[in-house]
Amino acid sequence: MIRKFRSLFFVLIILSLFAFVNYGFLKPQPIFAEAYTQVQTWINNYGDPNFSDDKLKVLGDIQPGLGVIMQEIGRRFTAIYYAARAGNWDLASYELKELREAQEVGEITRPKRKEALVAFEESFLGGAENPSEGTLQDAINKKNFLAFNKSFKSAIGGCNGCHQSTGFSFIKYRLPVKSELPLQFFLNEEGK
Ligand code: HEC
Repeated sequence: MIRKFRSLFFVLIILSLFAFVNYGFLKPQPIFAEAYTQVQTWINNYGDPNFSDDKLKVLGDIQPGLGVIMQEIGRRFTAIYYAARAGNWDLASYELKELREAQEVGEITRPKRKEALVAFEESFLGGAENPSEGTLQDAINKKNFLAFNKSFKSAIGGCNGCHQSTGFSFIKYRLPVKSELPLQFFLNEEGK
């Protein structure tokens, strides 16, 4: 009896192996199928005024929050110091402008921190126009390193004060002994 059906068993085993490999084992798994379908829907409906979706919400959700922005702020803040120390005031001013712009992104993506960020800018950084006396921008405009050093120190207090009041007292900015940026970046106008 077994002998009689041996070849049939054999065929059945081959067939089931084939089915296993073809439909389960080797078939690519649609891991990103959901995200892909959503993106495809946006593409298909692009420009159709009747099409509405939470596309803006999705785009909003992936904008940088303070964690990301603060990394940039930290790096630029250090760069401001080393630029000023090298007497490259234009570079210091540029880094400060970029730092303010990074802050402005944070004011949009994290509105609950806006008030504190604006206050920090006014008291310590100084605006592009008419910066108050004692701010970083004021010292940079005057190309006065002594004044700059003083305002930089108080700005550090402002950074860490905000970390403290927002529940991040373990984040303390301290001026690195060396800048991460290559030193030639901080040469003054005469290349010294
Ligand atoms: C509005 C208050 C506020 C001010 C002002 C502020 N910070 Fe922050 N900072 C934060 C918060 C809140 C975090 C935690 C990030 C988060 O929300 O996930 C942070 C995080 C950081 C981090 C850690 C980033 C990381 O994830 O690695 C650094 C570095 C930093 N800040 C540097 C600075 C420097 C330098 C200044 C001043 C020039 C400054 N911060 C001013 C609120 C502030």
